Formats: sequence, structure tokens, C-alpha cells
Amino acid sequence: MGDDTRLVLAGRNTAETHGFVNVPPFRGSTVVYPDAESCLAGRNRFTYGRRGNPTMEALQLAWSELEGAAGTVICPSGASACSTALLSCLKTGDHLLMVDSTYRPTRALCNGLLARYGVETTYYDPMIGAGIEALIRPNTRAIYMESPGSQTFEVQDVPSIVAVAKKHGITTLIDNTWATALLFKPLDFGIDISINAATKYPSGHSDVLIGLVAANEKALPALQATHGDLGLYLGPDDVFLTLRGLRTMPLRLREQGANALAVARHLDQHPRIRRVLHPALPSCPGHEFFKRDFKGASSLFAIVLDATSDAQVIAFLDHLKLFGMGYSWGGFESLAVPFDCTAYRSATSFNLGGRAIRLNIGLETPADLIADLDAALAAMPKA
Ligand SMILES: Cc1ncc(COP(=O)(O)O)c(C=O)c1O
Repeated sequence: MGDDTRLVLAGRNTAETHGFVNVPPFRGSTVVYPDAESCLAGRNRFTYGRRGNPTMEALQLAWSELEGAAGTVICPSGASACSTALLSCLKTGDHLLMVDSTYRPTRALCNGLLARYGVETTYYDPMIGAGIEALIRPNTRAIYMESPGSQTFEVQDVPSIVAVAKKHGITTLIDNTWATALLFKPLDFGIDISINAATKYPSGHSDVLIGLVAANEKALPALQATHGDLGLYLGPDDVFLTLRGLRTMPLRLREQGANALAVARHLDQHPRIRRVLHPALPSCPGHEFFKRDFKGASSLFAIVLDATSDAQVIAFLDHLKLFGMGYSWGGFESLAVPFDCTAYRSATSFNLGGRAIRLNIGLETPADLIADLDAALAAMPKA
């Protein structure tokens, strides 16, 4: 079955929803038992609102099918999905290998809460591949990947890293938000835990915060236990909206991915652009792994402007008419935000060679976006 068919069917059973196509938002804390015997035996399919309801179950089933996972937990944000996943496989005294290009709040988690609880983190070069073996210590328990990397888009050599991890019995995790399991299936590559900030593509409309963590048989029990211990829960309306978004995610990803590539290729030839960081372009670090392992590209990439000052960046951004300025992505609308990755990296330096902007390309007509970007680049003063 193709993933498009899977996402139309998964998690729906019209015999249970009186013929209605969708599972509605189930709102509730208390679930009553039909009699004392089933209460004593805990025999209800659902036991308590936080532990699950039919709306949550539908999303969990659909996501697990797409990921090829043993199970999925729903978290109240992408950031909480990252922290829940990490907490599920680490304890005091453990050592974590974290990719240097990771999403910044994940870095803050490692340097803050995990460090306070006695977990030591070593950051590694996203391009390290099999060389990661040299960083492994007797107490290394987890290797965390994010591919492509946040902001800089390096694509990691996942199979080489997973092979090293398996040799040493180390749990592997990946933040797979950029690709989703439509474009890269982490568990098929032997990764144990796949994290997705479903705030982005699965919900897809910039109106929900949600995180999904899918795991294989080995990692699932600890993941579910940690999720329960933390008492995590997300309201049924947000779960419902994510299920609704999931049905059209393949279409949106294909369209936005194609639009993004058209914009990226245009900007790659533009005299006021010094560099385009897009996994599908040969100049992107790890492009060979992208070609080998991914089914396609999504809508997020970065550009380096022919600019070195705030005034130039401001002139460019303020001239854009079709791009919102906002710190998210994966929604249907185009966005542009400035960033400086040199401010926080510790294991590697990434000299951008100019001022950088991250672009999320939406469902607008690509020619309109290109014209808008060209006009803003023309309005950007020369150095
Ligand atoms: C790669 C990545 N992971 C995780 C997150 C966190 O998601 P949320 O904003 O839903 O907490 C984000 C958000 O921007 C992200 O870009």
C-alpha cells in the first residue's frame, strides 16, 4: 500500500463512528466502567482521559502505520516530544552524543535539564558518519540525529551512524520533522525513536502545537512509561486537527517541496545570493546522502544574502510582501526569518559568509514568490 492510501485509511473505522468519515474530538477526563467486575479488572478499552481516547488512538494508529512503528506517543509540542524521547532512554551518569546542528531548544535541554540531572552531552559534527565511533565512551547510551540539520541543512550519513550504534548497543533517535516519514522513514534505517514536531507538516496549517514520537518494539515501553510519568496530554481539538491535516499531508508536502525547489534554484543563480542551503542542491553538505536515502525534499531551506549588516537584512525583509516573519514552518504559508548559527555551535564552525535567512515555502504560486524575493533583493542596499 502506498503512503497516500495509508494516510487516507489509517486510524478510521466508520463502523465505530456511526458511518461518519472522521473520528470526532472526544472530550473527557472520566471514563466510567459498566460494572464493578470490569472496573476491578481494568477491562475498559479506555481507562482515563490522559491515558487515551478514541481521537488520540486514531492519530497514534495512523502515525505508527506511516512510521512502521510499534507505537506512538502524543506530546503537547514538538519540543516536549524531543525531551520526552531523550528522557526515555537516559539516566544519571549516562553520556549522550548530540548533533551540533540540532534545533536550538534541544541544545538548551541538553545543556540545562539533562546536565542538571547528571547526563553529559558531547556535540558532534553532523558530517561525522562512521567517525562517530571515536566519540563513544563506556557510558554512551544514546546518539541523537537531526537530518537535515536545523538552519544549516547538513544531511547526515544515517546508516553509518546507526551501524556504529548497533555495534555498541546504543539507542538511536532522530528529529525527523523536516522530512516526515513520507520522505525519510527512520525506523526502516534501523533508528529506534523517530521524533516529529507535528506542529509543522502533519497539522500543516499553523494553528496547532503538537509532537509525535514513534518507536520500535525495543524503545516503546520506556517511551510510554516516561510519557505517562510526565503526565503529558494534548486536548482533543488539537489532536483532531492534526488527524485532519495528516490526510492531506502528502499533497501539501509534494506541492510545497516542488515550490521550494523552484524558488531555491532561482535564488541559487541570483547575483545577490551568496549561497543556498537546500539538501536537493549539490552544494549542500551531505547532498549525496540526501540522494541516497530520501524520497524528496520538503519546503524549508536557507539562503545567505550578499549582505553583512542589519540595515541590509532589514531592507530585504521589510520589502517582502508575501512572506510572514515568524519562527515556525511547515504551514501552508511562506515565511522568512533571519538566523545566526555561529552564535551557538560548539563542535563545528559553520561560516555562512554573509547574513542568513531561513525560508518556508508555502502553497502560493512560485512565480509570485520569486517576484517578491527578486524585488526585495533589488531593494537591499549594496555593502
Ligand atoms: C526541527 C525542530 N524540532 C522541534 C521543534 C519544536 O516544535 P514545537 O515548536 O512544536 O515545540 C521545531 C520547531 O521549530 C523544529 O524546527
